[in-house]
Amino acid sequence: MKRILIPILPALLLLLVKGGYSQDVLIQNVQSRHIQSLNGKWNYIVDPYEMGYYDYRYLPYDQNPKPQDRAFYTNTKPRDKSERIEYDFDKSPTLLVPRDWNSQKENLFYYEGTIWYKKSFDYPSLKDGNRLFVYFGAANYRSDVYLNGKKLGMHKGGFTPFNFEITGLVKEKDNFLIVKVDNKRKAEEVPTLNTDWWNYGGITRDVQLVETPGNFIRDYFLQLAKSSNDRLAGYVQLDGPDIAGKPIELNIPELKTHLNLTSNSKGYAKIEVKVASLKLWSTDKPVLYNVEFSSGTDLVKDRIGFRTLETKGADILLNGKPVFLRGISIHEENAIRGGRAYSREDAQMLLNWAKELGCNFVRLAHYPHNENIIRLADEMGILVWEENPVYWTIQWTNPETFATACNQLKEVVSRDKNRAAVIIWSMANETPVSPERNSFLHRLVDTARSMDGTRLISAALEQHSSPDNEMMRTITDPFAEYVDVVSFNQYIGWYDGLPDKCSKIQWVINQDKPVIISELGADALGGMHGDSLTRWSEEYQEYFYKENLKMISKIPQLRGTTPWILVDFRSPRRVLPGIQDGWNRKGLISETGNRKKAFYILQDFYKKISLKYE
Ligand code: GCU
Repeated sequence: MKRILIPILPALLLLLVKGGYSQDVLIQNVQSRHIQSLNGKWNYIVDPYEMGYYDYRYLPYDQNPKPQDRAFYTNTKPRDKSERIEYDFDKSPTLLVPRDWNSQKENLFYYEGTIWYKKSFDYPSLKDGNRLFVYFGAANYRSDVYLNGKKLGMHKGGFTPFNFEITGLVKEKDNFLIVKVDNKRKAEEVPTLNTDWWNYGGITRDVQLVETPGNFIRDYFLQLAKSSNDRLAGYVQLDGPDIAGKPIELNIPELKTHLNLTSNSKGYAKIEVKVASLKLWSTDKPVLYNVEFSSGTDLVKDRIGFRTLETKGADILLNGKPVFLRGISIHEENAIRGGRAYSREDAQMLLNWAKELGCNFVRLAHYPHNENIIRLADEMGILVWEENPVYWTIQWTNPETFATACNQLKEVVSRDKNRAAVIIWSMANETPVSPERNSFLHRLVDTARSMDGTRLISAALEQHSSPDNEMMRTITDPFAEYVDVVSFNQYIGWYDGLPDKCSKIQWVINQDKPVIISELGADALGGMHGDSLTRWSEEYQEYFYKENLKMISKIPQLRGTTPWILVDFRSPRRVLPGIQDGWNRKGLISETGNRKKAFYILQDFYKKISLKYE
């Protein structure tokens, strides 16, 4: 099966490029390049009927030969006092970018639909022969992007970066960048219609103009070669009209490593170099090296950590030593300010709380988080599980759905492949077992492994009772065969009986692989108290954690857990008045930043575990 699949992949890639994803190949490490930020106030127009995109016969203007002043992306102004133009960005209100729209305007709190954004900018200084790109950290969910009335392309996926070249279109003055963002949920999309999180819409992460030389270093990958602790491996990919046979230099001053490479006919150069006295990146000592790539007039600097990662039976070995992943699940939300987290400060708040809990590991659920938290985890020595938003009831037999899922996976692997902190790529969360779903996920695993053979693959599977004994729980999911780490969610004591049921459960895990309990959790309204069987009280959540942690500790292959969840988070599914009020209350910290009693149960558990693994 696998051999047959490989020839299909090029066709699939063509679909991705030609079909729905006309954005360019991603530029690696934008922040270290020559950038001009477009963050700040953007004018916006709420357009639930998408009349700025379709004419009254519901034909898309941008597929219509005739110029259409009524299309919002043309940003047309009346030429005289009689002309009828029924929109005007410059007289419209503004939204902040980066930020979701829901948490900025009361009347957009529940909005799901299209909002048009417009940003004007000058670019007087594009150097002769240089190129210019516009780079989006993310926009949820579908973005149609136009510059000066010309369509640059479309991107789908609410949590991964995309960029378009604008070299030939940008003017010295009065450019207008217009983005149609549509966050409507759809059955065929990824994620699909039903999720347990808030559907924050908008341009949720940074937008930057990126100037590069005509021939530049677009991408690179540099990590320790699999199962080596002194051989770096990877590649450099040039981009431009004249990239064949070009000299490329790799310089790592602290390692006294200087490599001279030459690109092949496609502008690609493989890297393989032994290094002496490498200080390995670890959670105690997250050593990052200054790494410089140069070619022609381009110089890209990065800070990269190097560590070894493998599994051996049920052990996860970090730099050859068994590690227990003291984790916590996190949604990308700043519950205190409201809305999607996006900044380094947001990341600092969340990771500081995780550190306080005693974590060395975070599960960034259920979609790729912003690059700030990934880079901060690299600096703080916190291991990371990143997740593709293949969540619940995806359309497994729809090729477009697979293409969208695959494209988002490729984008997060492309963006974060140089981050030592990232150790697990998760393919999915709680997806119902079927042959179609197994094939869909298997193809995603092939994609991830073909892009990055250095990291572990997992997915949050579901556990099942054995047919003749409800109290015996096991993992029968066939997908467990394809992953490196067997992870699953279980809610015994919350959705499945009361906490005392935990002591009656017997776990029988047949896979000789590391096990991570990727979710366990119970709701508690911060500040609500009662006895340990009063649902929604902090005492119930505390009792739940005590019983659950005792239960999972009996699993011989247990090598980590990421309880659900660090902080209460908004969800339209959680409507119990006076208790949930639109919040999922499984946080160990309330939406006002208060630690609940269960926080200290998990903190104590991790203190004891780390002693065992010191
Ligand atoms: C599921 C799911 C989460 C959800 C949680 C809950 O396991 O993965 O996204 O929020 O349960 O019910 O609270």
